[in-house]
Formats: sequence, C-alpha cells, structure tokens
Amino acid sequence: MKIDILFYPEKLKNAEDKAVVVLDVLRATTTIATALAAGAEKIYPVSSIKDAFSLKKKISGALLGGERGGIKVPGFDLGNSPLEYQGLKGRTIILSSTNGTKTLKKAVSAKTLIAGSIVNAKAVADYLLKLNLDVVFMPSGTDSQFSLEDFAGAGYIISLLAEEKKVELSDQAYVSFELARINPPEEILTRSFHGQRLINLGFARDVEYCAKLNLLDVVPVGRLQEGRLVIESSRLFR
Ligand code: MLT
Repeated sequence: MKIDILFYPEKLKNAEDKAVVVLDVLRATTTIATALAAGAEKIYPVSSIKDAFSLKKKISGALLGGERGGIKVPGFDLGNSPLEYQGLKGRTIILSSTNGTKTLKKAVSAKTLIAGSIVNAKAVADYLLKLNLDVVFMPSGTDSQFSLEDFAGAGYIISLLAEEKKVELSDQAYVSFELARINPPEEILTRSFHGQRLINLGFARDVEYCAKLNLLDVVPVGRLQEGRLVIESSRLFR
C-alpha cells in the first residue's frame, strides 16, 4: 500500500484509483464523524453560505451547520463545534465551513473519499485496510496554508496502517508518521495555530475533544448524488 500526503489542499491529481482521506481535524471532519455517530443520515458539505441556504430550501427538515472565522453563521441552526452535534437520528445536515467543506469538494475525483480525523483514526485505518487501495491524505490546512493538526492527524492513521500492513511512505508521509509517533494529539492540537485561535475564541473544549484518539467507530464516506457531494456512514456500504 503506497501512502502519500499533500501539504495543503492543492489540486488533487491521479486519484481515480486511490482512496483519498480529507482531514480537517479542527474541526469540520471531526464534526462530520461526530454527527454521523450521533445518528445523522446524510451530510452535504457546501462551499458557500449562499449555497447552504439555497440547498436547505430543497431538503425539508435539514439542519444548517458551520462557521466563518470559527463562529456560527447567523441564521444557521448549529455552529462547527462537534460538541453541538448530538441526538441527530435520521437528520440531514448541510455543512459549510471555511476550509474543510471546500477541501472535501476538491476530492470528489477519488475512487473512495473518506473524511478522517483523530477521533475516528482507527475506524478509518480499518476501512482503508479493507479497501486495500493506495492512499492520499489531503489536509484542509488553514486558509490555504499548511496546518500542523491535519498533517499530524494523518500520521496517527498512518501509524495504525503500518502496524497491520507493509506500507510504502512518500517522504512527506514519513514526516507525518514521525510527527505523530513522537507527539500526543493533545500537544499537537494545543500547539497548532488554529488550536490557539479556537482556544482564544472560547472553544478549548472542542480542541480537547478533537484530540481524543479512536473515540468513534464511524467512517464518513463521500459520493456524488445527482452531481452533489453527500457524506454518509460507511455502514451503509457494508
Ligand atoms: C474550517 O473548515 O476551516 C474549520 O473547520 C474551522 C473551524 O474550526 O470551525
């Protein structure tokens, strides 16, 4: 199994035969995993606030979630704090965040598109082992720049893969793996630029939650439905 990682959400190339794992550890992909674990049926990642409001008009009962600058968007039902996403049995969520939901949409050319995070690292690794495809990790970054938490987040998943299978790591993937091997998630997330920004905005509990390794047994998998990206739990495909 060949494993590569991008430094930030640059253009994805030659992904048609690969599994692509998009990460926005703080916080969009952690929120997606949490929402599905809380019973949400479908999550529609959308890029703009305008698209979110217009999609809500088409899907009765859908909840709008997301943020700009870390703060809940006025008129939305939920922000982007994973801790808000509880008791969602059967609900549809339309999610729009600054970086994460845009990155997910950039990865639709993947053979299999997965939303990864630290809270579901083991579930994602187990799913990748079953798929047995080469893997590209795609960090969402922060405002198109490198982000420590996504790069290390991939490393925790790579470590789990390497325990089970012979893996061939690109140079960048090796750095991500080593970073995760020597640093616990809480330290990485608290030290990161975006972690500090969230703590200053009053979201210290989110940062703590997003660092909980292997908390959730859920794998968010994306597919195109009528030209629109929708994310559901991999359980539907078993
Ligand atoms: C993003 O998409 O940029 C993040 O998820 C921002 C956040 O922390 O809410």
